[in-house]
Amino acid sequence: MTATSTATSTAGPTTDAARLAAPARRARTAPLPRPVGLPTPRGPVSAAVVDVLASGSTTPADARRTTAAELERRALGADEVLRDEDLQLALWTLQELSFRGFGGAGDRFEWDLELVGARQLLEGALEAALRQVVDVPTGVAPSEVPEVLFAMTADDGAPGMSDHLARRGTLEQFRELVVHRSIYHLKEADPHTWAIPRLEGSVKAAMVEIQADEYGGGRPERMHAALFARTMRALGLDDTYGLYVDEVPATTLVGSTAMALFGLNRRLVGAVVGHLAAIEMTSSLPSRRYGAGMRRLGLDRDATWFYDEHVEADAVHEQIAAHDLAGGFARQHPDRTSEVLLGAAAGLALDELVGGHLRSSWEAGRSSLLGGRAVDDLLAAAAA
Ligand SMILES: [Fe+2]
Ligand SMILES: [Fe+2]
Repeated sequence: MTATSTATSTAGPTTDAARLAAPARRARTAPLPRPVGLPTPRGPVSAAVVDVLASGSTTPADARRTTAAELERRALGADEVLRDEDLQLALWTLQELSFRGFGGAGDRFEWDLELVGARQLLEGALEAALRQVVDVPTGVAPSEVPEVLFAMTADDGAPGMSDHLARRGTLEQFRELVVHRSIYHLKEADPHTWAIPRLEGSVKAAMVEIQADEYGGGRPERMHAALFARTMRALGLDDTYGLYVDEVPATTLVGSTAMALFGLNRRLVGAVVGHLAAIEMTSSLPSRRYGAGMRRLGLDRDATWFYDEHVEADAVHEQIAAHDLAGGFARQHPDRTSEVLLGAAAGLALDELVGGHLRSSWEAGRSSLLGGRAVDDLLAAAAA
């Protein structure tokens, strides 16, 4: 990752209290989107993709051929596809061309047929893997969708990661969580917004009602992505969009690549609806726990605002999402009910995948970041 950082160094202090007393980073209430730097490749496929976008020696056709050849050669099982560092980073990079891009000459490749072809190969592998590993309820009538979604989301992870963080989480663990979550939360709502022109009537209205809140209701400083950036700064992290992509493993990236898969492909609009519903229905209680854990550590409103906002907003959003959005879509399109449930189930499964990674890393006494890198080393390197 080539973007520069201005994060506050915490290399000196050794206690949580001392770190929290470190000088605050610059105050910015509504950061404007800035291009992310190209990520560091993790294998031949991501290397070929990044090289094209860096205007290197690889052509788009080379990147597509490499993608096809590697997928055939590796013949990965479904679980391996979800955890493959090279494939998930390559797909994240290709999809990012349709979000903020990378700010260089490579942005002209968004609609390059060869790179779109490479993206479709990777998205095909991801979709097949999700359909294989995700447990989707069957035989559900459209009228039953809200009830089934509430049942699917009844276990919001407790006693899982949020419960651990509320009771015993350390500042380092909160920082790691926020680094992982930054891949999505700094573009929160964007992957689902792709669905809006593809929806109709009351379902479109329900999606817009939720998304309007996610985007701050006309106040840029209240955009959830902006509130998350505030949390990052309060924790001494750099809020540059996409900066930490090199620090997170495939198990984190796949949450974003699946969201973008659903968002970018109109045939999967029902999965976007289900995915957003699952997010809204599982956010309120964990957000309350994250806020409580941060306050236990002495962090202030700058750190907790994002989570406090979700305690309130998502208690409302979950009703709209279950009944008007997901239930409404299934009533409009009875034959696509299973697609809604696929999106929800995939979102829940991938959230559990990253949650399991964080918990197992911490239980083993190591960092959850890629390569076991300590978050303090990351901050120190950024400040150097
Ligand atoms: Fe939100
Ligand atoms: Fe929400």
